Amino acid sequence: MFKDGEIREPNNLSFLNGKTLLVTGATGSFGQQFTEAVLRDSHVKALRIYSRDELKQHHMSQLFSDERLRFFIGDVRDKERLRRAMHGVDMVVHAAALKQVPACEYNPFEAVKTNILGAVNIIDTAIDCNVQRVIALSSDKAVNPINLYGATKLCAEKLFVQSNAYSGLDGTRFSSVRYGNVVGSRGSVIPLFLQQRTQRLVTVTDRRMTRFWITLEQGVNFVLRTLELMHGGEIFVPKIPSMNIMDLVDAIAPDCEVQFTQIRPGEKLHEILISSDEARHTLEFPDMFVIQPMHPWWKCDNWKEGKALPDGFVYSSNANPQQLSVEILRNMVASLGEMEEFASTATGGAPVMKDTNGD
Ligand SMILES: NC(=O)c1ccc[n+]([C@@H]2O[C@H](COP(=O)([O-])OP(=O)(O)OC[C@H]3O[C@@H](n4cnc5c(N)ncnc54)[C@H](OP(=O)(O)O)[C@@H]3O)[C@@H](O)[C@H]2O)c1
Repeated sequence: MFKDGEIREPNNLSFLNGKTLLVTGATGSFGQQFTEAVLRDSHVKALRIYSRDELKQHHMSQLFSDERLRFFIGDVRDKERLRRAMHGVDMVVHAAALKQVPACEYNPFEAVKTNILGAVNIIDTAIDCNVQRVIALSSDKAVNPINLYGATKLCAEKLFVQSNAYSGLDGTRFSSVRYGNVVGSRGSVIPLFLQQRTQRLVTVTDRRMTRFWITLEQGVNFVLRTLELMHGGEIFVPKIPSMNIMDLVDAIAPDCEVQFTQIRPGEKLHEILISSDEARHTLEFPDMFVIQPMHPWWKCDNWKEGKALPDGFVYSSNANPQQLSVEILRNMVASLGEMEEFASTATGGAPVMKDTNGD
């Protein structure tokens, strides 16, 4: 679907053979897709699921019957539990987060505890348990953040970069992956529009709004690829397309009335994946950007092939040369499966929200 800058799939996952992985937040949208890919395409020794809610884990255990899976109930705020879960683990993918912008604004201490202190716990425990590699999921909302969710993700990114200095030369390697909205993930705008169109009325905050878009499958492939390539300290950004919110309305609910509310606190018109200040130490590759750390311990020849970016470069959703047409958006939504059914599963059967602001 995405021809230019298409995210290359990992060639094979042999680097995972015989390894034990731990995925925090593995019962979420990303984690489930990641679990499916790893169990299907690799010979991992074990894949440990780490999250709080037993019901989600129960559903997941029914979905995947694979003896390599282990289910750990635990909170990333709980270091002791993490230490037990990370014992003997080779690689960690840290996806657990509070990611709804309004929920983080309304419960700021909770967002800090999960997204920042949770990241600290992951780092400390990974170093103590001699984990080889840790990759954390971040968001475009971490760039020049205007909401608490983004600010916590920015802090987490900074922690994951500098933790490479804590772990020393042969210690645990830490990197992050930063991308934009995941098409159809829980709490995102597609399930909302699908539900709203049954009432023949969709709500849009501002018609000018643009967003980056990535499919779950692409997100998972990108994380797997970077997990293999990382030296530790990088923030990896995939090249992905953007869409305008009104094109998405046209694709999903062309015959519906559109009610314009107004831009909400913590919401931007356009998202940024690489700021102009970061661009100065970023390298460009055919399908991704690598933001290099600005720390004395970083070896500049880690990434030899990449191109420096031009002065003033900003990777933003409105200035992105790759824009999705209405037709492509329509196909993407259709490929998410039976639409109304998808709408109810993707919102977790939750009551219809008037508006949404998930990541
Ligand atoms: N979805 C997007 O559009 C998007 C875009 C960019 C980046 N991201 C990032 O990608 C990651 C995964 O997103 P997602 O869409 O898969 O999220 P999701 O569907 O909401 O899943 C979140 C997962 O985290 C777990 N979790 C939450 N708090 C936890 C805690 N304190 N301790 C342990 N587990 C906890 C949840 O399970 P329990 O509730 O059972 O604990 C769930 O498994 C997040 O870090 C998010 O910030 C997402």
